[in-house]
Amino acid sequence: MKTRIVEVGNDAGNPEYYEEAAEILQRGGTVSFPTETVYGLGADATNAEAVERIYLAKGRPSDNPLIVHVDSKEMALRYAANVPEKAIRCMDAFWPGPLTLILEAKEGVFADNVTAGLPTVGLRMPDHPIALNLLKQTDRPLAAPSANVSGKPSPTCAGHVEHDLNGKIDLILDGGATALGIESTVLDMTAEPPAILRPGSITADMIEDVIGQLRVSCEGKRTVPRSPGVKYTHYAPDAPVYLIEQKGDIVDRAIEHLHSKGKKVAVLSADFSKAADYYFPLSADVLYSGLRKCDETSADLILAAIQPEHKKDAALMNRLEKAADHKWFS
Ligand code: TXA
Ligand code: MG
Repeated sequence: MKTRIVEVGNDAGNPEYYEEAAEILQRGGTVSFPTETVYGLGADATNAEAVERIYLAKGRPSDNPLIVHVDSKEMALRYAANVPEKAIRCMDAFWPGPLTLILEAKEGVFADNVTAGLPTVGLRMPDHPIALNLLKQTDRPLAAPSANVSGKPSPTCAGHVEHDLNGKIDLILDGGATALGIESTVLDMTAEPPAILRPGSITADMIEDVIGQLRVSCEGKRTVPRSPGVKYTHYAPDAPVYLIEQKGDIVDRAIEHLHSKGKKVAVLSADFSKAADYYFPLSADVLYSGLRKCDETSADLILAAIQPEHKKDAALMNRLEKAADHKWFS
């Protein structure tokens, strides 16, 4: 299969950009498109064969359900059942935007493999003109996980998608780099109180301001990871990632120690590191591109330097802990 790349200009409202993409999606093909979080790999959520092509291209385990993208609250209400009033308030407050709501799926509308056989579905209205125009023109809900090979960092530009999926998908809509760089918050509205399954840019505090208290885990955290996908590796570059507390000269001493063992070190940090063999900045918007750039180096090991500011960012820490498989350097 040849993967076509269509560059969308500043006039993203021009329907001509989406004609070919919408036609591909309507006949069951796959199209990658940008959202405000990361690039998604889209297929018709009502067509099981189309959805199967997503799992095949990504190498994604089929028990990990996909997020379905809609172009409006109205479209969401056509595809979900028994929508609680708190969910409507979240749609009004945060859509379009980086919030996925887990709702009861209307029976018989989604392909079984979208929801991995669950009675629920994750719905989100993305805040990106290309995603919204594509949804409008395709005129159906689009299942779209992040457009990376399963296990790799999510793509934040069209080049990342091309690197991972060239030859495996029909088309990429290139809309430049994504703004946020971390996937949407996933909020389970089928639980009472509702529970955050995956933290994102819409924080627990922001949600509690709108719908009141959220579920708290036994460790006292407001992320309750019950998403079917949590058991799988995530965001993993080739070299192992270790988290390290950025205090005093700890990072420099770690690098010195690793150099004495003949190892090359890449450092992700908010502060430039002179001692590192490779340095990449660390913040939510550039985390995945930094992890991907590590793969282009000959680093044996990646240190992610954690500052007190980072610890306040639940979404960033969640992705870093997964990338490091919870390993801290000692
Ligand atoms: O920002 C995003 O959400 C991106 C962009 C492309 O929109 N999409 C994305 O999709 O990250 P994906 O498929 O990579 O992530 C889906 C997450 C997984 O953690 C999955 O387990 C959870 O949402 N999920 C989906 N449907 C679910 C359901 N019915 N119940 C519980 N968790 C669900
Ligand atoms: Mg993903």
